[in-house]
Amino acid sequence: MEKKYYLFEDSAELAAQLAVDFKDAVSKKAASGGSLTVALSGGHTPKAFFEILAEAPYKEGLPWENVIFFWGDERCVPPDNDESNFKMTNIALLSHIDIPASNIHRVLGEYPPTNETLRYEKVIEENVAAGGNGFPSFDWIFLGMGDDGHTASLFPGASNLKEMKKICVVAEHPETGQKRVSLTFPVINNAKRVSFLVAGEAKAPVFKEILEKGANPLPYPASMVNPENGVLEWYLDKAAAPEL
Ligand code: 6PG
Repeated sequence: MEKKYYLFEDSAELAAQLAVDFKDAVSKKAASGGSLTVALSGGHTPKAFFEILAEAPYKEGLPWENVIFFWGDERCVPPDNDESNFKMTNIALLSHIDIPASNIHRVLGEYPPTNETLRYEKVIEENVAAGGNGFPSFDWIFLGMGDDGHTASLFPGASNLKEMKKICVVAEHPETGQKRVSLTFPVINNAKRVSFLVAGEAKAPVFKEILEKGANPLPYPASMVNPENGVLEWYLDKAAAPEL
């Protein structure tokens, strides 16, 4: 596994560079006649990145028909709920670009969670080719990291951290009890490219531990992301990684 760290002055500079890198990846894939399979993260950090893609030169400049969007995790709420990762992405990006509706595979948060994981697994299997470990291999998975070291909706101490057979699982937020649908580690670690987007000083203590961990296991799901046959990238601002 190749690991790379990119350090930026602030979250705006991080988002701007990420948009450049995203266009580069989409353009390369389109040039080879393919479509980039992308699993998006939720929360707040990716919003600035999405908003940049929704404007020139990306809005008209990308072959959006060569991008297929999925979510790495989603809250089990309707798509018009303020908690919905899809809603945030739709407002910030999807409603501004000319992308075929069939290229957008949202998690149906309004469905019963267990049923939805079974449905979403099939959607992923039908649209994302299998890779190294036999699981679907996304071209690019974006991840955030919570202050507690969670990633996607895989939270510290959760039993689903050990899930090695399913593509996605029902997760539960440890404080609110909110049900989520989340990709599992066999899928995350089978991606060709995994990029953490981490900004803000609240993330600094956990990121420092992960940076310095060496071989010692940590109680943070974010530290368990290791795409064996891919690239792991950390897009960081200085507040989250003052020691880099
Ligand atoms: C979610 C996420 C989650 C998020 C982190 C970081 O649905 O909330 O996917 O894993 O990426 O909690 O969130 P922020 O970007 O808001 O700090």
